[in-house]
Amino acid sequence: MAAPVVVITGALTGIGRAAAVAYGRRGADVVVSGRHPDAGEELVRELGDLGARALFVRADVRFDDQVRDLVDQAVERFGRIDVAFNNAGTEGRPGPITELTEEAYEDTFDTNVKGTVLSMKHEFRVMKEHGGGSIINVSSTYGQMGLPEAALYVGSKHAVIGLTRVAALEGAAFGIRVNVVAPGYTQTAMYERVTGSDQVRSAVNSVLPMRRAGTPEEVAEAVFFLGSEQSAYITGQTLTLDGGLMAGWPLFPSS
Ligand SMILES: NC(=O)c1ccc[n+]([C@@H]2O[C@H](COP(=O)([O-])OP(=O)(O)OC[C@H]3O[C@@H](n4cnc5c(N)ncnc54)[C@H](O)[C@@H]3O)[C@@H](O)[C@H]2O)c1
Repeated sequence: MAAPVVVITGALTGIGRAAAVAYGRRGADVVVSGRHPDAGEELVRELGDLGARALFVRADVRFDDQVRDLVDQAVERFGRIDVAFNNAGTEGRPGPITELTEEAYEDTFDTNVKGTVLSMKHEFRVMKEHGGGSIINVSSTYGQMGLPEAALYVGSKHAVIGLTRVAALEGAAFGIRVNVVAPGYTQTAMYERVTGSDQVRSAVNSVLPMRRAGTPEEVAEAVFFLGSEQSAYITGQTLTLDGGLMAGWPLFPSS
């Protein structure tokens, strides 16, 4: 079987980078995308060292023409797209609802929601032409429950799950599967920014059932599964990787 062609947005750091490396190690053709060409070319070299064929395309997922160009360049170079990992995302700017601004709304929703819509729009176009594919979006545990002072992030990640369900229904007849990974706390730059200090990270870990944050590599393995034939009958689903966070309240009142 030919190597799968994989497109990853927001691929230059964290979970996206881990997914690029996981695919590269397995001999996929990997198209990595992001907003920083120097980091993109460095990742291409790293994937080349792993034996993968790789291409960087600069794309900010908030803009239709840039996402179209990403998808078109992937097809021009590798002939098709088998797997698309729509990973680009932002934590936005937290704050109480009374203090949210239009600018903060646009900042978060344009990347997390519009970016996912635009990515799927163009990926559907080429996957339909080439007989199908697998799309994996990114939500969060906070796409399934609330967090005070994070209305924009929480709202945007809930939206990604809804978008995924609709896309799964629209794609099924064309052989396009669409699923969503929902990481809990995962050790990336975003997690460092959101938690802010080792003290907060220890406090978070203490209420997680597994007592630790996840790793980007663990999320990458879930993405790999959803992109593979091993998940051929799975579509429209949310795969949560949260060390048990959403299974229920982990503490007895006495503990
Ligand atoms: N780390 C966590 O705890 C966690 C938990 C749940 C969900 N997530 C989600 O996982 C995804 C990856 O995040 P991460 O933790 O690796 O953090 P990260 O900040 O390292 O990665 C996000 C990447 O997206 C890129 N990006 C942001 N806006 C973009 C835009 N408009 N266009 C193109 N690229 C853009 C960033 O430059 C960065 O490379 C995000 O969607 C995030 O919301 C992360």
